[in-house]
Amino acid sequence: MKEKFRVYGERTPKATERELFNRKLSKIAAEEGIVLLKNEGVLPLQGETVALFGNGARLTVKGGSGSGDVHERYSVNVEDGLKNNGISVVTSPWLERFSAEYEHDKKDYVDRVEKAIKGYKVWNVMAMFQKIGEFKLAYPTGDKITKDDLVKADVAMYVIARQAGEGDDRKLEKGDYLLSDLEKKNIDLLARTYRKVILVINAGSIIDIAPIEHEVQAIVYLGQPGEEGGNALGEIVSGKVSPSGKLTDTWGMTYADYPTAAFRQDEKLEEYYYEGIYVGYRYFEAKGHRPLYPFGYGLSYTTFNTAYQSLEVDGSSVRLRAKVTNVGAKAGKEVAELYLARPNRKLPGEKKFLVAYKKTKVLQPGEEEEVTLVFDLAKVGAYDEKESRFFLEEGSYGLYLGGDVLEAKPVAVLLLKEDIVTEIVSKSCPKKRDFVDLALSTAKDDYEGLPVFEVEKFQPITHSYDYPLPQVSPKVQHYLDTLSNKELARLAMGGGFFSKHFIRVPGAAGNTTSRLLQKGIPPIIMSDGPAGINLLQNGAVTRSGMTRYIGSLPEQWQWGWLKKWGPKLKFLYAKDKDIKIYQYCTAWPNATLLAMSWNDDLLFEVGKAVGTEMRAMGVTLWLAPALNIHRDPLCGRNFEYYSEDPLISGHMARSITMGVQSVGGVGVTIKHFACNNRENNRTEVNSNLSERALREIYLRGFRIALEARPWALMSSYNRINGVYAADNRDLLVKILRNEWGYEGLVMSDWDGADHSKYESVLRNGNNMIMPGRKEVYQKLLAAIKDGRLDRKTLLYSAAYALNLIFAAATSQGF
Ligand code: BGC
Repeated sequence: MKEKFRVYGERTPKATERELFNRKLSKIAAEEGIVLLKNEGVLPLQGETVALFGNGARLTVKGGSGSGDVHERYSVNVEDGLKNNGISVVTSPWLERFSAEYEHDKKDYVDRVEKAIKGYKVWNVMAMFQKIGEFKLAYPTGDKITKDDLVKADVAMYVIARQAGEGDDRKLEKGDYLLSDLEKKNIDLLARTYRKVILVINAGSIIDIAPIEHEVQAIVYLGQPGEEGGNALGEIVSGKVSPSGKLTDTWGMTYADYPTAAFRQDEKLEEYYYEGIYVGYRYFEAKGHRPLYPFGYGLSYTTFNTAYQSLEVDGSSVRLRAKVTNVGAKAGKEVAELYLARPNRKLPGEKKFLVAYKKTKVLQPGEEEEVTLVFDLAKVGAYDEKESRFFLEEGSYGLYLGGDVLEAKPVAVLLLKEDIVTEIVSKSCPKKRDFVDLALSTAKDDYEGLPVFEVEKFQPITHSYDYPLPQVSPKVQHYLDTLSNKELARLAMGGGFFSKHFIRVPGAAGNTTSRLLQKGIPPIIMSDGPAGINLLQNGAVTRSGMTRYIGSLPEQWQWGWLKKWGPKLKFLYAKDKDIKIYQYCTAWPNATLLAMSWNDDLLFEVGKAVGTEMRAMGVTLWLAPALNIHRDPLCGRNFEYYSEDPLISGHMARSITMGVQSVGGVGVTIKHFACNNRENNRTEVNSNLSERALREIYLRGFRIALEARPWALMSSYNRINGVYAADNRDLLVKILRNEWGYEGLVMSDWDGADHSKYESVLRNGNNMIMPGRKEVYQKLLAAIKDGRLDRKTLLYSAAYALNLIFAAATSQGF
């Protein structure tokens, strides 16, 4: 191996065919996910002029902040998206004023930060950045609309935007979950002035719009729509595309209607999931809370009729055929949703839950499509904690078909004449303190007159709890036989940020070791997601393999002495002879918006496009998709996750994984395993929950996602019933390996193993401690030396790591 280093990315800043193709796909993805929540004859527009207001009109939020951010070439905001679709916007003065106000706020923020970091010098640069991190630039909620701003227009549109990100939960406060006073006043004024008002919600998760819902005539949930969001919205409001997105969360009338309003412990380190399995619509239905908008809901410009056709039961497999007909006057797509109601006599349960769904193609008026909705009864049993098994109790199971959870009606009945045990498992993750989950009883509907299908008993799934080393190739076996324990330890951790990387990908979040290059083991590169690939737009590498900036320091470094002296530190910047790398990656809609497409095929295509980009950039592992459950609308990272429902979460993660991995030589990292449902104190919080809620709600999506054989999986920061997820043998070995047969690599979240002893983390099923640093290596060596860490444990790490490393496209030629 003679090369000093390898570089990828593009050699010119010019947009490639790939970038242009992805831009188009990003727009299609946004269009498929945007949800029309209300429409009283306002949309689509028919050439009307628009008086546009609101903080998201020009400063449209394309995605969340933190590791889930993407540095795309450019994004299209709502204002431009409307104009690009021939809609005339007549409120430039307000928009200009608001932009100026934002610039003023930004300047004020920069001044405050600069003042606070005045004393920091070269030697305490890390402390300086820590200080900077304490300041936040508040997202402005808008400028007052005055009488002069109320220009003549046919329609008013108000765009409410919110920003959220990693490390912080959203707040049940005005300007965040609640509307600010100013937003309310502005919308009131518009409602009094204009006959037609359209509200657009540009937020990664739910906000409380109930107080003004009746004042406006149309509502569009734009989510965080990625780089083409403005254009996608423009196409929808102008009628070029009929909306076909459906909610993957319940929008409550008030936050008080969510179970977390009662059970959330917020700043405390102990979080009790008292609501058990009653998350999202499962809670709303069982409690009889009428939501503002139910799970699965979304309007179109046309109307559909979804009719039951036939049903087949074959062993545990159920196939229901339905006919979807476009009975309206415009073209559009519909989602057929299928829910199952269990009898709930032996164990309390939810009224019904999603078991299958299918989105149609575009149906012209009068056109119909037959869809087949398939699910496996072996996977929908209730978990009986006492017996450690999943089962289906005898009785009648209603199948509900329709366009959202409330609208779905019973169409057929499955009849079980006796209990069927579907899976026998081993007791895992026991509670530390005994508490009883909420138990709610749900009224049964009348199934009189519906077709009944008997289900024959089938065999339960059983498991062996041996844990052999994974299958490896002869090449990997050779390394396992010949590497020393010290060398194996290098593979049990990340390569670290400051180590010498053999592959140069500016902005990547992590890598494996470069220290074994001489042995023929290359490193691989990991990059964040899930809204795209989170890399710097550019960087340079010298002929000897050092990294440089192009032109100036990246914006995030431009503070204090660095900002002042940065331009003079010539050695930091690329010279003509250096290799310049350009990495314009696509910003896709946020995960929830993607999920609201209810379109598995689309997620596959998006995944494939991400995989193609990864190959071009030299990235092997995408640190995505993320599929934690939306337990609480206030979780700061909900935008990175798909839904309150495990089935749709799992399906989305599975489809995008299949897409990425179909490219070959690249893989995904599904995360954060598991119960990382809060951001405040995320590295220490203890998620206390019953094994039933854990298995039926919080793990179920991960299990579905594993069907796509993701290359890697990331454990979460938090504890589960007192044990850190990163150090949790029940979770990482018993459930993941033994019961689910997972064959990929398990890694910790970044510094997520630091609360535990590293050797224990490895022993308990985590194969790679990320991101890796000198101290981790030293501790591992000390543990090897005094016998706390044995070779067998290290071999697991090395086997999983090497399997992955040699499957990487970037490892070709080694
Ligand atoms: C986040 C992960 C991310 C990692 C690497 C962590 O703080 O929780 O989602 O992949 O950083 O950037």
